Amino acid sequence: MRTHRTPAAVILLCCSMVFLLSPIVLKGQLRAGADRRGISIGAAVNMAPFRNEPIYNQTLSREFNMLVAENAFKFDATEPANNSFNFNDTDALVSFAAMNNMKVRGHTLIWHSQIPGWLLNGNFTRDQVIEIMRNHITRLIQRYSATGVVIAWDVVNEAFEENGTLRNSFWMQRIGPDYIRMAFQFARAADPTGSAKLYINDYNTEGTNAKANALFNLVRDLKAQGVPIDGVGIQDHLINPFTVQQQHRDNLTRLAGLGVDISLTEIDIRIALPNSTQEMQQQATGYGGLMQLCLSQPRCRAFVTWGFTDKYSWVPGTFSGQGDALLFNTNYQAKPAYTAIANALGSGTPTPTPTPTPTPTPTPTPTPNPTPTPPPTPTPTPAPGACAITYRITNSWPGNFQGDMLITNTSTPVTSWALTFTFGGNQQITQLWNGVVTQTGSNVTVRNAPYNGSLGTGATVNAGFLSTVTGTNSVPTAFRLNGAQCVVR
Ligand code: G3I
Repeated sequence: MRTHRTPAAVILLCCSMVFLLSPIVLKGQLRAGADRRGISIGAAVNMAPFRNEPIYNQTLSREFNMLVAENAFKFDATEPANNSFNFNDTDALVSFAAMNNMKVRGHTLIWHSQIPGWLLNGNFTRDQVIEIMRNHITRLIQRYSATGVVIAWDVVNEAFEENGTLRNSFWMQRIGPDYIRMAFQFARAADPTGSAKLYINDYNTEGTNAKANALFNLVRDLKAQGVPIDGVGIQDHLINPFTVQQQHRDNLTRLAGLGVDISLTEIDIRIALPNSTQEMQQQATGYGGLMQLCLSQPRCRAFVTWGFTDKYSWVPGTFSGQGDALLFNTNYQAKPAYTAIANALGSGTPTPTPTPTPTPTPTPTPTPNPTPTPPPTPTPTPAPGACAITYRITNSWPGNFQGDMLITNTSTPVTSWALTFTFGGNQQITQLWNGVVTQTGSNVTVRNAPYNGSLGTGATVNAGFLSTVTGTNSVPTAFRLNGAQCVVR
């Protein structure tokens, strides 16, 4: 029998064609982008696929630097009998996170739902319920405080009714409104180092409605009383189409003004099924807008979706006829929402930067000039085009602003870079990410961070910063990269 051998050249051509025809799939953009921007990006984890479906964990660790248990950390799961704890699932999640260099949100300690029967029906006195609450909070926090992996706890979850009154929950009925203060104090006492931030978390609180106002007032009052509360979680269970509004920005700004961190903790945007291309695009706009919202608020620490694949989501089981609320479809393929978030993070598919076409220098036409005039003194301007820069003010509030610089190297590759510019007003950078800043008077130098010194031709780096400002916040007009002048876009 004659063996057919494929010539090497044909294989090469064939493989090149496959490469050219295949879509370029860039993986891990969410995690890479969030790492660069210094925020946590997370997803809620369902234990069944976590234990049984390798692609689930691969996607989780590839795309996220944080996880939260959808149910495994809750009261009924962790303390199924009085003072008898089950940490099998929580240990597995914390180990997975540690091995994959991820962080964990502990969700949740005190909540009106998923309270075990032994507690709900136990006929305990008020003091006994308080002691059960203290014991539960202490055991969970102390189990993980030394790991450094659990960086936030939802100490109290969903304390409010929609009209802004405190929810008439088991905890309210058995302890009274003081249960919230006590829960935070027990949590801090369990780990006085404060290694994990203590959050209150709720839904329908993204804007400035009665419930959001009540949450704001409670946090303000707890802070005033010295109660150890560090953060507010805005769940963001949303309905498509959703777009970020001014009231959402205002809400985060006022919460940040109380001196607390903010996290978007349970994001999903549900669509009426069957979905359409248009609805997927609307959903992408919603997700991208939420990421921009988080990035524009300096106290926003985490962007967490409630699941990540439409294969596992609480939505269809709760809202009949609705679903497809997450970033990946049921086959783990990234949806437009994924790309929108990656783009907001500045880690989306790079659009090829066109190589600048050299503009021919016009040949000077000799003009007859009978009277000789002295030649103009040439101003030594370095050739523009070593870099291109877009400088934007992305957010501002009295005396402060947030800026963003998109720096593109349009010259030959460099292995380290320094961007210099001069503020035209009285601005002082207080924090910068994706670079190392020094400022003397109004003169600013931003050097590369250890991980982004190499910039090939056309490569882009995105540096964001916070600054104080007095007077007019004028935009700098001239920038240099490694001493050569940049084009300002
Ligand atoms: O644990 C039992 C299991 O023993 C039993 O075999 C199984 C049979 O259905 O049910 C299991 O409990 C379910 C549990 O999820 C764990 O899978 C409950 O029935 C089910 O109601 C529960 O739903 C969870 C829900 O919280 C509970 O209220 C959802 O998965 C979870 O996504 C949802 O998450 C909440 C957040 O914690 C707080 N914010 C809102 C968010 C969505 O409701």
